[in-house]
Amino acid sequence: MKSTNDQPEPVAVVIFGGAGDLTWRKLMPSLFDLHRDGRMPEKFAIMAVDRAAFGDAQLRKHFLEGVNRFSPKGKAKSTDWTRFAEHVTYQQGDFQEPATYSNLEKSCAKLEKDWNAKAVHIFHMATPPAMFGVIPKRLADAGLNQDRTRDRIVVEKPIGHDLDSARELNRVLTESFHESQIFRIDHYLGKETVQNILAFRFANPLFEPIWNRRYVEYVTITVAEEVGVGHRGGYYDHAGALRDMVQNHLMQLLCLVAMEPMVSFDADEIRNKKVDVLHALRPIPRGAVAQCAVRGQYGQGRLNGKKVRGYRQEVDVSPRSKTETFAALKLFVDNWRWQGVPFYLRTGKCLRRQLSEVSIQFRTVPHRSFPPECGRDWHPSRLVLSIQPQEGIMLGFQAKYPGPKMLLRPVEMRFNYQDSFAVPSPDAYETLLWDVMKQDPTLFMRADQVEAAWRLLMPVLDAWAKSDPRDFPNYAAGSWGPRAADELLAREGHAWGPIA
Ligand code: BG6
Repeated sequence: MKSTNDQPEPVAVVIFGGAGDLTWRKLMPSLFDLHRDGRMPEKFAIMAVDRAAFGDAQLRKHFLEGVNRFSPKGKAKSTDWTRFAEHVTYQQGDFQEPATYSNLEKSCAKLEKDWNAKAVHIFHMATPPAMFGVIPKRLADAGLNQDRTRDRIVVEKPIGHDLDSARELNRVLTESFHESQIFRIDHYLGKETVQNILAFRFANPLFEPIWNRRYVEYVTITVAEEVGVGHRGGYYDHAGALRDMVQNHLMQLLCLVAMEPMVSFDADEIRNKKVDVLHALRPIPRGAVAQCAVRGQYGQGRLNGKKVRGYRQEVDVSPRSKTETFAALKLFVDNWRWQGVPFYLRTGKCLRRQLSEVSIQFRTVPHRSFPPECGRDWHPSRLVLSIQPQEGIMLGFQAKYPGPKMLLRPVEMRFNYQDSFAVPSPDAYETLLWDVMKQDPTLFMRADQVEAAWRLLMPVLDAWAKSDPRDFPNYAAGSWGPRAADELLAREGHAWGPIA
């Protein structure tokens, strides 16, 4: 069950990869924000574990810099920081070495003794994926998996590299921890605007009756990034857009948009409804990948007036790389609600601007009573759920233009988070870490979801691995991606939306 606002139990958060980037940018700022919002329990400890040699003081200084740079709630007041930082310690250790875990076990036991209370133990794997298979086993060997209600493990994506490796990773995880102890993070699920898809659809009776094949012509889901691969070329060149973004973030968005109403807010009820969507997705025939999927790779171009290098010139990327930095798919959900309605998904790096949105394109009116000259600029109604950087919802519809004649023009009605609520949205990790503390798995991926998403994508991954993309690079940095992605929709008379 999704929790209410009460405080979690005493907790020890152990971060493997404690000196790494994710900890610096996301985990520590989010834990600090939970603390300054008064949502951490009175008794808590954060232990950063990593191989590098660091002193507690040195690491705390580094974490403070991260908070000041990345917290959406602004810089830390020094009193707030001092109160928080005294709970943070560093433990140097090799993730392979059993000694690291016996030290942790001792530290955890000492905390419980000092606190005179049982504590929740959260083991967060903020490490390269190669460690995901090692850490759970070592934790189990040290007995740190025993308490099903208090020992929890957090795993970051990517969950596997394909269906087989995802199955294997799930097997390794469940060998040491029960499924209820495992929290697989897809940080998109922690975003306020993503959670709001459920609120919008199921807390308002207005749209649900038209949320189906009768009224919806097609749906587009765009997650466009302005950034390139930055310093992550080594990882990204073995992943690509389909694995890095579509298999997880875009699939989760698709599930939330297409799922049936849940009966209750129970975590498994919601996750069951989402996995039903994945099971209903029409398999992509191996021979028809070219008709349903488009891949792209950016070449040099201009972004915000600046010259940008191509993907193959990025650090740690092969100069002959065949990895896609853009992917678009056309999918169908084969059930009563969505039969015949295309869902188009696209994501890419180095695109013209950062923009994540779901657009529901409604069908046009069944009969146009107005003479053609009334509406030269006629657009069927469109509902846009803006995930980021705009956070809100927009409904586009036709209205009468003022004047003696009946002229129709498209207009927009907008809801904007900032105007309505005037509080900053928490970072997704703040929400997710708190949910782990409260043992609320609603916003986490279950093993079967992860595998179902991989199963759908395997024909595309296989086809792309087998045939060389001869036209790479096929889009300029700063554009909206390869032309073929527009053609994928244009064939049906559809379009990604006016922003393109
Ligand atoms: C990560 C991907 O999961 O999500 C990155 O690995 C991507 O490649 C990032 O840049 C995007 O997240 P956000 O929250 O910035 O949209």
